[in-house]
Amino acid sequence: MGVEGRRVRFGLLSTARINGAVLAGALPSEEVDVVAVASRSRDRAERYASEHGLERVHGSYDALLEDPDVDAVYVSLPNGLHVEWSVRALEAGKHVLCEKPLTRHPEAAERAFAAAEAADRFLVEAFMWRHSPQTQRLQALVAEGAIGELRLVRAAFSFSLTDLGDVRMRPELDGGALMDVGCYCVSGIRLLAGEPQRVLGELVRASTGVDVRFAAVLGLPNGVLGHFDCALDLPGRSALEAVGSEGSLTLDDPWHARRPGIDLRRGDGEPERIEVGAADSYRLELESLARAIRGEADPLLGRDDALGQARTLAALYRSAEEGRAVEL
Ligand SMILES: NC(=O)c1ccc[n+]([C@@H]2O[C@H](COP(=O)([O-])OP(=O)(O)OC[C@H]3O[C@@H](n4cnc5c(N)ncnc54)[C@H](OP(=O)(O)O)[C@@H]3O)[C@@H](O)[C@H]2O)c1
Repeated sequence: MGVEGRRVRFGLLSTARINGAVLAGALPSEEVDVVAVASRSRDRAERYASEHGLERVHGSYDALLEDPDVDAVYVSLPNGLHVEWSVRALEAGKHVLCEKPLTRHPEAAERAFAAAEAADRFLVEAFMWRHSPQTQRLQALVAEGAIGELRLVRAAFSFSLTDLGDVRMRPELDGGALMDVGCYCVSGIRLLAGEPQRVLGELVRASTGVDVRFAAVLGLPNGVLGHFDCALDLPGRSALEAVGSEGSLTLDDPWHARRPGIDLRRGDGEPERIEVGAADSYRLELESLARAIRGEADPLLGRDDALGQARTLAALYRSAEEGRAVEL
């Protein structure tokens, strides 16, 4: 059924906690509706649907993929299941918004986008931070030379997770700090400086085997350096800083943008606060995909970005595991 001129109907593939942010983003939107939920357990799906006012309930993920009233599927599964279920959804004729990170394996990213192309459907990695007005302002400031020539990008994202049973702590589901939060740092550095040419990573493992802390240095085009740290065992921290020949731009809340605003420092001067309006990034990412599905615009994020992410994550893990710098 065509989607021209109507709201795009999303189905939630799982009852994950992150669904809450997507439901809140969809609620005020006139471009999308969340109409269905699927769970491995029918009871859980029914409870979830009644708590969130969803009209359609499926007791298996496959049943959601067969639902003709669903245009697009939001894949909010643990990381290790992202590609498998994105491909299944694409093959079933659904568009897919897949939670970040799509994958740490470049060949799996290639396979997923080949499935999207074969099915003539969109596949988008859900980096909601890329949709925020704050991110777009930062990108424009760097591009227009507000800090001179870009020379260094620094990023951080950490929080403290004590539940060893959480999906983030499970190696078989591709948990880990780099996958969960470091992927934002990688996304931020790549957005501003381009594709890494060489990376050096160092990690510390949790008792479960996943990387609980990860730090890295990246060599980027035009002599730009990047560095970041991420962790599941440090207090909550978020930062993104771009440093140029003439100044710097600092974001204190780059990933969630709940406190949007950019500090611009020129030379050794006092920071000038650049105000940015608040916006719901989850709503914006849903609406961006909806416009693409209706043929009104290109999606913001596609194959090249997801592949760049996967190649960088793979190189970072290889570097940390082999104890040496890795060329890309
Ligand atoms: N963009 C963001 O701001 C953001 C924030 C948080 C998380 N995320 C991403 O969203 C994804 C989900 O994270 P979350 O914290 O929301 O996860 P979660 O609450 O643990 O939920 C994961 C869901 O996956 C389903 N599932 C299927 N197989 C599973 C398995 N073997 N073990 C555990 N659950 C399984 C379960 O749903 P059923 O039992 O109903 O089938 C479960 O509710 C991750 O990829 C994460 O990186 C993104």
